[in-house]
Amino acid sequence: MAYDAKFKVWRGDADGGALQDYTVEVNEGEVVLDIIHRIQATQASDLAVRWNCKAGKCGSCSAEVNGRPRLMCMTRMSTFTEDETVTVTPMRTFPVIRDLVTDVSFNYVKAREIPSFTPPPGLEPGEYRMQQVDVERSQEFRKCIECFLCQNVCHVIRDHEDNKQAYAGPRFFIRLAELEMHPLDVADRRDLGQDDMGLGYCNITKCCTEVCPEGIHITDNAIIPMKERVAGHRYDPLVWLGDKLFRR
Ligand code: SF4
Ligand code: F3S
Ligand code: FES
Repeated sequence: MAYDAKFKVWRGDADGGALQDYTVEVNEGEVVLDIIHRIQATQASDLAVRWNCKAGKCGSCSAEVNGRPRLMCMTRMSTFTEDETVTVTPMRTFPVIRDLVTDVSFNYVKAREIPSFTPPPGLEPGEYRMQQVDVERSQEFRKCIECFLCQNVCHVIRDHEDNKQAYAGPRFFIRLAELEMHPLDVADRRDLGQDDMGLGYCNITKCCTEVCPEGIHITDNAIIPMKERVAGHRYDPLVWLGDKLFRR
C-alpha cells in the first residue's frame, strides 16, 4: 500500500547547507533511492544525487540514511516504519560538492600510491598455477565496489581531517592485503602500509566491516593479517639482525 513518508534531505554545497523537509509518496518494494528520485522528479529538480546501477554494484549512491552509512539503492523503505522521518545526508568524511554528492577523489589519490601486481620477472601468463585458497582470498577482496562507505565510517579520518595525509583507510588496506598475500607477487608493501598508508593508526574498531555492503571481512581478513605481517617483519629479532648486517 502506498503511503506518504516524511523525508529530511540535506541541501547545500561547500559553503554550507541545511536539512529540507519533503513529504513524498512511497510504494511497496521501493528503496531510499526511489524516493530521492521521486523528490527530484516532483519537488526539487535541482537535487543532486550520484547513482548509476540501482543494483548495489556501482558503489555510486553512498550516503548516510538516519546517520548510518548505506547504499541508497539497497536500503528498502520497509526498513523504516511509516511514521518515521527518514533523514538523508551526504557522506561526512568527504567534502560536499552539492546536496548528496561528495568529492571522493581522496580515494583515487590513495589508490595510485599502491604499486600494482608485480609477478617475478620473466613469468609468462599460463606458466603458473594458484591454489584455490589463494584464489578465494583474492576474490573476497575483489568484491569491493568502491562505495567508500568503509572510508566514510572510519573514525581515523572521519573525526580527524588532518590524518588524511597519512592514512589510506580500510578500502586500501584490503588492496594492500590482496597484493601482499598473492602467492606470485614479489613486491614488499609492508613498509609502505605502515609508514605511508597509516596501518598503525587503525585500532581495529571494525566499523568498516560492519558497513561494507559486500560483506568483506575487512578487519579480520585484511587489516589484522597485514598488521601481523608488519610486526613479524619489523620486530622479529632475526629480521632485525639481518637488516643490521646486510644494510651496511
Ligand atoms: Fe565499499 Fe566494502 Fe569496498 Fe569499503 S571494502 S569501499 S565498504 S565495498
Ligand atoms: Fe577504521 Fe576499520 Fe580500523 S573502521 S580503525 S579501519 S578496523
Ligand atoms: Fe549503484 Fe547504488 S546506484 S550501488
